[in-house]
Amino acid sequence: MPKANKISTVAVIGAGQMGTGISEVVAKHGHAALVYDLDKSRIRASIEASAGYFRRQVETGKMPGEAAEEAISRIKGAFSLQDLASADLVVEAVSENEGIKRKVFTDVCTVLKPDAILATNTSSLSITRLAASTDRPNRFIGIHFMNPVPVMKLVELVRGIGTDQETFATAKDFAQSIGKTVTVSEDFPAFIVNRVLIPMINEAIYTLYEGVGNVEAIDTGMKLGANHPMGPLELADFIGLDTCLSIMQVLHEGLADSKYRPCPLLVKYVEAGWLGRKAQRGFYDYRYVPARPTR
Ligand code: CAA
Repeated sequence: MPKANKISTVAVIGAGQMGTGISEVVAKHGHAALVYDLDKSRIRASIEASAGYFRRQVETGKMPGEAAEEAISRIKGAFSLQDLASADLVVEAVSENEGIKRKVFTDVCTVLKPDAILATNTSSLSITRLAASTDRPNRFIGIHFMNPVPVMKLVELVRGIGTDQETFATAKDFAQSIGKTVTVSEDFPAFIVNRVLIPMINEAIYTLYEGVGNVEAIDTGMKLGANHPMGPLELADFIGLDTCLSIMQVLHEGLADSKYRPCPLLVKYVEAGWLGRKAQRGFYDYRYVPARPTR
């Protein structure tokens, strides 16, 4: 069983926004990061983005050049599943779709060392249910990072019903070794942070839908009135409106309480493909600088 200090190679599956940030903090703190994605061009783009991140760290005086180059050299692309065989820990960070995640686990388990730990960065799905689709429910755990990963100090650790104590201790030590503070959540829909945060965002969208205020009024209200670094609609665009909707659906179905019903305006934006920053349009239109509210 790998202990935290024995975790030297971390495979990150999914080279999107979260996967890229995870490999950056992993490499920054001395572990090797293997970046895997079905789409090979995303692997290259992720590694390039991480190199850009480390070079900006040097330019702004936050990291010595040598340390940055070493960190860059610790991030490698994994262009076939077989390349993940050396991983001590795998962090799955593919899109928030249970079918896709299950397929990833089925495939990766065929190449992993028997004692490797398998972790998911799911923001809302049941860890116990995901664990059951693997060959190692005892070595399966939720390690939930926040976006932007290099900046946010927290990770939530979530045990499934079968996660053993050693896996939990190893994951906790690993999270601390990459500079994160750990909070522990029970395995209930959306865990702690998203259970509180996403209904707040959904309520902000209802506030917009019902005409209580426009985008600017709602975001200014919460930024200056509640000292949030971003207004809730700006934050929704940052997280991705499809992700916000899917978390509300998990809460609504999982807790069977109408207070979690997704706002119809959120559904409409997602149906339009206005998914937030990544689609250039959501509650703001990012094709303009500065971004313009869409309502
Ligand atoms: N990667 C790395 N560093 C980043 C970054 C990124 N993507 N974005 C910003 N930063 C860094 C900047 O380099 C800067 O660093 P220094 O202070 O060392 O100079 C710092 O963050 C602040 O950035 P900026 O000055 O550009 O901008 P800002 O002050 O407006 O802060 C922010 C940006 C940190 C994103 C801030 O607006 C914020 O904290 N927003 C809220 C984020 C949040 O709530 N995240 C959680 C979302 S929920 C979630 O992730 C869970 C889920 O499952 C959905």
